[in-house]
Amino acid sequence: SSSTSQCSYEEYKETADWLLAHTEQRPKVAIICGSGLGGLADLLDDKTTFPYADIPGFPTTASTVPGHAGQLVFGRLQGRDCVCMQGRFHFYEGYSMHKVTYPVRVFYLLGVKTVIVTNAAGGLNGSYEVGDIMLIKDHINMPGFAGQNPLCGHNDVRFGERFPCMSDAYDRELRALVKQTAEEQGCGSFLQEGVYCMLAGPTYETIAECKLLQKLGADCVGMSTVPEVVVARHCGLRVLGLSLVTNKVVTDYDSVEKANHEEVLRTTQRRTQDVQRLVSHLIPKI
Ligand code: 6GU
Repeated sequence: SSSTSQCSYEEYKETADWLLAHTEQRPKVAIICGSGLGGLADLLDDKTTFPYADIPGFPTTASTVPGHAGQLVFGRLQGRDCVCMQGRFHFYEGYSMHKVTYPVRVFYLLGVKTVIVTNAAGGLNGSYEVGDIMLIKDHINMPGFAGQNPLCGHNDVRFGERFPCMSDAYDRELRALVKQTAEEQGCGSFLQEGVYCMLAGPTYETIAECKLLQKLGADCVGMSTVPEVVVARHCGLRVLGLSLVTNKVVTDYDSVEKANHEEVLRTTQRRTQDVQRLVSHLIPKI
């Protein structure tokens, strides 16, 4: 490791080789499950489960948030090999951007080609309702503006180029498949498409910050996803992102509503089945 706390190619490789030696599954799709959305991993057939603490080189989970289990689950979804992160690493927990994105490079070395990321997010777009699913078409990497980009530091060309393009981060074909699948699965009436903005957290936004993000063109705000997407695109993985709108942000000084984790968890419980159905029926089409 260098002074920038980066991980070496050999460290990622050791983790990947350990996993390859401990499962016969060779997934082409990885799913990173957001807060309260990890139930998807329970649906896998012929599961092999690895608690993060048992995986050599994996970041260690000292602090876990309720709704984040902390294990890697290999198995089959609708007949297709998948690997699921049941719980992710958040920057606000104190993990470096390199640790937050560690699993993504391991996925790449396992032979994964497509990453599906889900999250719970606050709705900034006034036309969105709580419970809507937003297909991510683009992002705003706010921590990146502040010098927290996971690709800062030495660039190892075995993963990707120094200056990767991000204008095509969210795969157009996958987005078309989501729209089609949402219609088939009865989710069409609450599917939106928009821009996800990541903030570092753990505080929710002030009213002034919410108004700022709306002016910037963000439709949803959350505390995850963007670092993983940046690292996935760097190494050429296709990306699909879904945000569940768990609450609407407060933009009115007279409002008595307050953003809170309980509302986030209530909405994920209400919609988790729909998200699971959408993702699992999408898998065979990828
Ligand atoms: Cl309102 N803000 C942020 N930053 N993350 C969230 C959220 C809000 N709701 C769910 N996740």
